[in-house]
Amino acid sequence: SITHVILTGGVGSRLWPLSRKSQPKQYLDLFEGKSLFEMTVERNRTIADKIMVVGNIDNCHLSRKVMEKSSTPYIDIIESTPRNTAAAIAFAAFASDPDDILIVTPSDHIIDAMEQYEEAIIEAVEKASKGHIVTFGIVPTKPETGYGYIERKGDDVISFREKPNKVSATDFIANGNFLWNSGMFCFKVGVFLDELKSFTPDVYEKSKIVWENNINGNLDLDLSLEIPSISIDYAVMERSKKIKVVSSRFTWSDLGSFESVYDYLVSTGHPVDKDGNMVIGTNKYTAFVGLKNTIFVYTDTANLILQKERSQDVKNVYSELERKN
Ligand code: GDD
Ligand code: MG
Repeated sequence: SITHVILTGGVGSRLWPLSRKSQPKQYLDLFEGKSLFEMTVERNRTIADKIMVVGNIDNCHLSRKVMEKSSTPYIDIIESTPRNTAAAIAFAAFASDPDDILIVTPSDHIIDAMEQYEEAIIEAVEKASKGHIVTFGIVPTKPETGYGYIERKGDDVISFREKPNKVSATDFIANGNFLWNSGMFCFKVGVFLDELKSFTPDVYEKSKIVWENNINGNLDLDLSLEIPSISIDYAVMERSKKIKVVSSRFTWSDLGSFESVYDYLVSTGHPVDKDGNMVIGTNKYTAFVGLKNTIFVYTDTANLILQKERSQDVKNVYSELERKN
């Protein structure tokens, strides 16, 4: 059977103050009255027999509200603390049968062109059935540093480069053989667990213990804190020889930073002044003098004034506030 695994335990720290711990970006009603999480569920409704939501205790009520309206059967896996994507995916795998196929997606992307999306999924499921770990690549349009890159030849992966610096990203684009890593994966459970076990045995063993001690899908805090916090990209994708890439033609945006939110909003007609300045979160008249490419984000409790090119650094503000609290 095919299970859609939705990863929704991240806080979207690069979108602070829009995105907060109590209300991460995937649950904000930013887009046509729907949240990105809700759109993710809808997008895969016809593809999978079952949904697994791997999320966090602090906001599982937000995903549950959406899931209760959906007709697809679902399982909740509730983390007591985020241990990054390798562990999150491992829990979903331990909760499945070895022959099950998992389609793992983030909960916080915008995707258009359903037809191409479904084509990509079908191709991926086919490859996964043959024992490959499939990653979905997107043809890049600019040297974005917030994404992972996949160097490929046909559907073979030559190398995997997680979040390069600007210089490398620019080289990758010029080279032409690189795709953006969409952060979506498809594989047979048994194949994935074998690879996880051989490349990051610590994550494998400790996640297994955590899963075996779950109570109705709730994971123990003390046991979870033993798991190394490492992303699936570093844990498996960069190391496995079983990876194949499906190069996708659907329109995709990760909306991970204000720079990508800015691009997305511009494409939907959101106003920008003649110097490229943008206001998000208020209709109050706001003037920019002597500033270029500045984003002003207004919320009830906090504001952000950001030079667009520095969008990746917003996470530092978030970490700083976390440290103080
Ligand atoms: N359950 C759970 N637990 N989910 C998590 C955790 C966790 O501890 N950490 C992150 N997630 C979820 C996030 O909510 C998101 O849906 C997804 O996993 C990916 O995590 P991000 O934190 O958003 O990763 P990223 O954007 O920095 O990088 C990844 O995605 C990019 C594309 O959006 C990488 O795979 C990059 O290579 C890729 O380009
Ligand atoms: Mg992301």
